[in-house]
Amino acid sequence: PTAVLIGAPTDVGAGHRGASMGPEALRVAGLQPALESHGLQVIDSGNLSGPNNPWKPPVDGYRHLPEVVLWNQAVFDAVYGELAQGRLPILLGGDHCLGLGSVSAVAKHCRETGKKLRVLWLDAHADFNTSELTPSGNVHGMPVACLCGLGPAELTGLGGHTPALRPDQIRQIGIRSVDEGEKRLVHEQGLEVFDMRFIDEHGMRHAMVQALAGLDDNTHLHVSFDVDFLDPEIAPGVGTTIPGGPTYREAQLCMEMIADSGCLGSLDIVELNPALDVRNKTAVLAVDLVESLFGKSTLMRERDRR
Ligand code: ARG
Ligand code: MN
Ligand code: MN
Ligand code: MN
Repeated sequence: PTAVLIGAPTDVGAGHRGASMGPEALRVAGLQPALESHGLQVIDSGNLSGPNNPWKPPVDGYRHLPEVVLWNQAVFDAVYGELAQGRLPILLGGDHCLGLGSVSAVAKHCRETGKKLRVLWLDAHADFNTSELTPSGNVHGMPVACLCGLGPAELTGLGGHTPALRPDQIRQIGIRSVDEGEKRLVHEQGLEVFDMRFIDEHGMRHAMVQALAGLDDNTHLHVSFDVDFLDPEIAPGVGTTIPGGPTYREAQLCMEMIADSGCLGSLDIVELNPALDVRNKTAVLAVDLVESLFGKSTLMRERDRR
């Protein structure tokens, strides 16, 4: 299918300013020509608009909730519209609160088309906080909980169906920072988490074999790629760096195995923060990895040999 880039230049859900510059940094790093070089048709639909970041303290456990809702409604509408036209949406964030709008749209599309949905959440963080549990009030720490129906009605009901997802449709990979109360909730909800300890002990290959198990021709795979998934030594341009993330090779293998599944149907690239980057190298790395996600490989692939 044709891929469509959708920019969502905001950092209303984050605790650092600057992820609002993510879409442009990805364009400057050559995302569109890189994808086109692998035979993909790509349309850049430009940027969505929404409210400015008021940069206020949290209210009742949420920072900027009204602004977060407006941005997510815009993302929901755009992503849903592209899916309905048979296109593959690529959301350029923006902070990870936008994963809520994006995945809610994908979930609605899958309900309407009878597709199975699997969401891969590549992240250092579980993003499973609630207003009671959050240490920060930043909504980018809450989207997975909201997708599972835990959160304010404005967010959990975004796609008209609450919850948007069941926990068994989600696999988290690369996790290494979960807040105290958040740990209990992740456990209670039964999220399947391939944390860094699992990857250390069993390897990225085994983590991905398990995370991708059970996919079939009728499965829509959504990848929500929080750039802080990557080790900060190679990817410093994010607001919430956590040491001990996947190496360059581990991240490539992760992307390549997703590409091989043939099921990729939508993608978020979020949390890239050019204000904290070094000569745009994190954006360049993200583009390199996304190329692998869309089938770049060192040798000719089996499916291309005919
Ligand atoms: N757990 C922390 C919080 O709730 C950090 C969340 C970071 N999330 C992200 N998408 N970068 O504030
Ligand atoms: Mn479809
Ligand atoms: Mn994160
Ligand atoms: Mn995240």
